[in-house]
Amino acid sequence: MIDQATIDRIIDAAEISEVVGEFVTLKRRGVNMLGNCPFHNEKTPSFTVSPAKGIFKCFGCGKGGNAVNFIMEHETLSYPEALKWLAKKYHIDVKEEEESPEQIKQKDDRESMMIVSAWAQKYFTRYLHHEDEGRTIGLSYLRERSIRDEIIQKFELGFCPDGKDSFTQSAQKQGYKMEYLERTGLTIKRDDWVRDRFAGRVMFPIHNIAGRVIAFGGRTLKSDKNTAKYLNSPESDIYHKSRVLYGIYQAKREITRHDKCYLVEGYTDVLSLHQAGIENVVASSGTALTHDQIRLIKRFTPNITILYDGDAAGIKASLRGIDLVLEEGVNVKVLLLPEGEDPDSFARSMSSSQLTAYIEENETDFIRFKTKLLMKSAANDPIEKSRLVNDIVRSIAIVPDAITRSIYIQDCSRLMDVREEVLYTQVRKIIQKQTEDLRNKGYRDNNYRPQFEPQSEPNFALDATPGRPAEAPKPKYTCEIEEREIIRILLKYFNEEVFEEEDENGEKFTFSVGQFVLEEIENDGLSSDNELINRVLALFADNLENPDFKPTSYFIHHSDPHISHLATDLLADKYIESKRWKKGGAFVEEEHEILDLIVPKIVQEYKLSKVRHMLRALETQIQTAGKNANWEALMELQNQYINLKKVAKYLSEQLGNRTVF
Ligand code: CTP
Ligand code: MN
Repeated sequence: MIDQATIDRIIDAAEISEVVGEFVTLKRRGVNMLGNCPFHNEKTPSFTVSPAKGIFKCFGCGKGGNAVNFIMEHETLSYPEALKWLAKKYHIDVKEEEESPEQIKQKDDRESMMIVSAWAQKYFTRYLHHEDEGRTIGLSYLRERSIRDEIIQKFELGFCPDGKDSFTQSAQKQGYKMEYLERTGLTIKRDDWVRDRFAGRVMFPIHNIAGRVIAFGGRTLKSDKNTAKYLNSPESDIYHKSRVLYGIYQAKREITRHDKCYLVEGYTDVLSLHQAGIENVVASSGTALTHDQIRLIKRFTPNITILYDGDAAGIKASLRGIDLVLEEGVNVKVLLLPEGEDPDSFARSMSSSQLTAYIEENETDFIRFKTKLLMKSAANDPIEKSRLVNDIVRSIAIVPDAITRSIYIQDCSRLMDVREEVLYTQVRKIIQKQTEDLRNKGYRDNNYRPQFEPQSEPNFALDATPGRPAEAPKPKYTCEIEEREIIRILLKYFNEEVFEEEDENGEKFTFSVGQFVLEEIENDGLSSDNELINRVLALFADNLENPDFKPTSYFIHHSDPHISHLATDLLADKYIESKRWKKGGAFVEEEHEILDLIVPKIVQEYKLSKVRHMLRALETQIQTAGKNANWEALMELQNQYINLKKVAKYLSEQLGNRTVF
């Protein structure tokens, strides 16, 4: 834990253009700086840095944030790691908060385990290259499999001497304690004997995201049926199998660059694909894919292509993988290799350009994959076919995002020749059932998934990119546009005292934009369909009485990336450029000059939009009630409708004919 005072000092010191400038060449453009975006490939620069606001924003890919976010994203670090990175750059001493003796012991233990693992990796690598046994057995095996030296080096492969405990003895001679050799699983110790777990095996070190060795896989070179082909380190304080992906450290940059990750099964698959020039690849290493592993990939990209063997086991694993990946809200494609091939053998059977072309031509989205796979048996059998449709519908229902679901439904409808409405009904039923189940479970498990993803946050600034046709993004929730506008106004002008009123005694007093907006929202009991918006509004409300509250920097530097991302997005320049305001018949360019005029309008626009949505909802209810001849409900609904219509009329009259937006 870094204490808050230090965090503040780091954030104060981190000058955005300096930080970004370490990685991107920036040119001055007016008050901003411009460069080529490091997060996506582009020819004309659309990556903007605003030194005044302390933020960066790419108008091409939508990424944006403060200096800490930039380092998190660019160096793929966690929040505290990014803070430490910046602290180092600005020579700030990071004082970690006091830790309990237990915490210290635990941390020291983990550190000792990592240190002995790092040493072991170097030992195995040296042994592979410089000892006779390593060279004649290990290295010649790798050469025979045509694994090139650069790949052997990149993945720090090694060899563990055969025999009883040569490795353990060397480690102890170097002063490494038996306790940590044992806890990392490198050494197996019983009462009366000690031996090397990996004796005689080719060693594949497993790195964590930061590149530290946390475990090993060891491949035997014996063809003995009773020896496991691969042995892996046991679970330990530094190695949690279900949270690790083999190759993530070597792949992360490329995954971000290509915005895509290939997922394979084994160590050698990863190696061969790298050798073929495909470096955005990780392996689940034989274990069934887990949610944590998918989340790990999701830190870098929402696009995963599963690349499994074309045999029965591979197909089964792919199918299991698909649902898991869908559930995480990730776009999943599948590529089945010809039967009898794994990515390793397949990659070696052709040139790397052939391989890339093959993957591009043959990867299919999951519906096509499932359909192709199951259609064989379902060809002309209606019962089989409906089973297949149900199967696919179940997968579609897992997808958390409604828009993605509807795209899949269209696809499925076309491919299977089933009407879209039929599919919608089925999907809705399944989702309803799931919601009920969840409710019955009382939301007990921690699998709660926030509805909001920073990447999927629509980027209204896109329409300002030169040369790009204005795309109006579909709102993701009702009143999204109006609510974002309200947040933007609060971010910029929360403390501005622009309103004046008289109390009963005729005394004038002023109040701020923040007070005005929050009071209006509070009085009408309005809340957003989007939890993030509600949270941000609540944070504003919490700070109404706080004289030191600086909303812009507070939200831009908020530790929750959803919040800082929203703030950055709304404060990006282009967002407001197109607006011109009119006061007293003349155009005024600067909105802050006429806050007293526009803030009430913005609030009324919001209310009007809310009312219109309510009206639309009522219309549907009225129709249903009519169909069902439910007269009592119908009358009640119609009354509500008439009242709301009045409110709507009042609001639009207040706003005048000219709509502000
Ligand atoms: N695996 C394992 N234990 C085993 C067998 C396999 O942990 N006894 C894991 C390894 O991570 C392996 C992956 O499952 O890489 C896939 O297994 P397999 O396809 O059998 O191995 P390959 O990676 O193809 O290895 P090789 O080409 O050397 O046979
Ligand atoms: Mn293989």
